[in-house]
Amino acid sequence: MGIPILCKNLEKSYGKAGGPSQRVLFDLSFSIGAGEWVVIMGDSGSGKSTLLNILAGIDPYDSGELLLDGNDWGAMTDEEKTLIRRRQMGFVFQNYNLFPFLSVYENVALPARLNGQDDREAVHALLKEVGLTDKAHKFPSQLSGGEQQRVAVARALIHRPRLLLADEPTGALDHLTGRKVLELLTLLHKEFCPTIVMSTHSLDAARYGTRILKLRDGRFVSENER
Ligand SMILES: Nc1ncnc2c1ncn2[C@@H]1O[C@H](COP(=O)(O)OP(=O)(O)OP(=O)(O)O)[C@@H](O)[C@H]1O
Ligand SMILES: [Mg+2]
Repeated sequence: MGIPILCKNLEKSYGKAGGPSQRVLFDLSFSIGAGEWVVIMGDSGSGKSTLLNILAGIDPYDSGELLLDGNDWGAMTDEEKTLIRRRQMGFVFQNYNLFPFLSVYENVALPARLNGQDDREAVHALLKEVGLTDKAHKFPSQLSGGEQQRVAVARALIHRPRLLLADEPTGALDHLTGRKVLELLTLLHKEFCPTIVMSTHSLDAARYGTRILKLRDGRFVSENER
C-alpha cells in the first residue's frame, strides 16, 4: 500500500552566496492519501522539482511540517532517509537516468539487488509488462526515448515501492509516446498501488492522475486559476 503524505506550511528558500536568499516555496499545505496519484502542475520555475526533491528527502526544507507515513521527515537522519528511499521509493526522471553501462535487465534488477533481492523471474515479468522482453540484453543507448522511459518505469517499481516520485516523466517524449508511458503507469499503479506524485507541464499528462495540485511561483493556486 502507498505512503500517505501530510504537509503543513512548508517553506523553502535557496541561499545565494553573499546575497539574499530566494524563497521558492511558500506556505504549502496538502495531504495525499495512500494510493493516490497526485499531479503537481506548474510552469517552469514554479517549484515542482524542488517540492519533489523535498518529498524524496534529497533537499531540506526551512520550516513547516512534512510527515511521510506519519514519520517526521525533517527529524530523520540521512541514513534513515537513504534506507527509506532505497526500500520504499521509486523514481522516474525526465531524462530517464538509466545507467549507460548496465543492460536493460541489469538496470531494472539493480534497485531490488540493493535491497538484497535477486529475483530473475520478477525482473523478466516486469520487463514483459513494459513490453521490453526482447530488449533485455540491450544497453540504454540502443533504445528509443520511449523504450528507455519504460525501462525507467520498470526500474522504479521492481522493489515494489510505496511511493513513486516522477519528475516530468513525459517531458522528453512526443505526445503519443508519452501517452504510452502514462498508460503503462496507469496499469502498474493499479497493480502495485503506490502513492504517485508526478510533476508535469502538460494538462494531457495531468489527466492520468487522480488529483491536480497547481503551483504558481511557489504557491498553490486553485484549479480554476490560470
Ligand atoms: N539548487 C538550486 N539553487 C538555487 N536556486 C534553485 C535551485 N534549484 C532550483 N532553484 C530555483 O528554484 C525555483 C524553482 O525551481 P524548480 O526547479 O523547482 O522549478 P520547476 O517547476 O521544476 O521548473 P521546470 O519545469 O523548469 O523543471 C527556480 O526559480 C529555480 O531557479
Ligand atoms: Mg523541474
